[in-house]
Amino acid sequence: MHTLFWRWSSLATPMQLSDTVRMSDQSVFDVDVWTLTRFVMEKGRKVKGATGELTQLINSLLTAIKAISSAVRKAGLNHLQGLAGQVNVTGDEQKKLDVLSNDLVINMLNASYGTCLMVSEENENVIYTPAEKRGKYIVCFDPLDGSSNIDCLAPIGTIFAIYKRTSDGEPTVKDALQPGNQIVCAGYALYGSATVVAISTGTGVDFFMLDPAIGEFILTDRNVKIKKKGKIYSINEGYAKYFEPAVNEYIKHKKYPEDGSAPYGARYVGSMVSDIHRTIAYGGIFMYPANEKSPKGKLRLLYECNPIAFLIEQAGGIATTGTQRVLDIIPEGLHQRAPFVAGSPDDVEEYLSFVKKQKK
Ligand code: AHG
Ligand code: MN
Ligand code: MN
Repeated sequence: MHTLFWRWSSLATPMQLSDTVRMSDQSVFDVDVWTLTRFVMEKGRKVKGATGELTQLINSLLTAIKAISSAVRKAGLNHLQGLAGQVNVTGDEQKKLDVLSNDLVINMLNASYGTCLMVSEENENVIYTPAEKRGKYIVCFDPLDGSSNIDCLAPIGTIFAIYKRTSDGEPTVKDALQPGNQIVCAGYALYGSATVVAISTGTGVDFFMLDPAIGEFILTDRNVKIKKKGKIYSINEGYAKYFEPAVNEYIKHKKYPEDGSAPYGARYVGSMVSDIHRTIAYGGIFMYPANEKSPKGKLRLLYECNPIAFLIEQAGGIATTGTQRVLDIIPEGLHQRAPFVAGSPDDVEEYLSFVKKQKK
């Protein structure tokens, strides 16, 4: 069942109407508001031996996300659009907002005393937290996803995946090269018509909307589940010339269904977070497959594919490379890419049937 609109009864401790003060027929002022911080604290208290370190880390990350949200919405006024003049390790031209967002996330995470090591899309090597501030978590993040959309004001986002370190003593790169099936918490922020955080600690996906009036992320949708099958496919068809036959066969089937059913709609923003949030909210399939120009696809495993795959699976969907479950890939490099197809289970299974047919 698709629980997009949250109801009080869905909370662990059902709210009584008396907990809200009815201001008028139009609005209800919640005097017992569920913020993301409160939600994570409640979850953390149920974990045996929890120290509150993860709550503190997430809270610090939210501070960075709020600051990025504010910077994104004022970028045009504060001359924060356009190029920063450098190129990142995966060859993308860095935008001023990429650099600002990166600095914000690194500084807030270092200040959280929860991390020992970080991986950022914008940094070639791992970032070690200063020894005196180290905690037990590793964070892989894309500080600003969809940078090519900044100057045209299309939705952009921030993506993160949190792991527990596996080593003792000095943290090492190996701590960052864990498969996505070891993720402790993952999420994304979408800077769209509103700013929303989608997050999971392994027991379902919840959506929190930023209320700028109080600077808090408010719980709006609990235990969000993706539709079994959607009606939208999302892929950059500009690369059709470079796609493998199975991909083009599948797209053709979506456009000209042989069974007389209605063709699918096409939607593609070019910001992974935006295309994925729509896929979770409406159902359907998002594809960034391998192609002749990018034999491993374009999306980076550690800070795009893994966190998003974790959320898609937590919402009841499938995330595959076309030949294996994304979360089972054993990373070899910090910035390695992976082919990525994810969304409603029936849609992804149908795509995989085309891949299988091609192999015969
Ligand atoms: P980033 O801005 O962090 O480099 O990510 C951009 C990614 C992803 O957000 C999106 O799905 C994809 O690039 C779009 O790539 P194309 O422009 O090649 O379609
Ligand atoms: Mn990205
Ligand atoms: Mn990015």
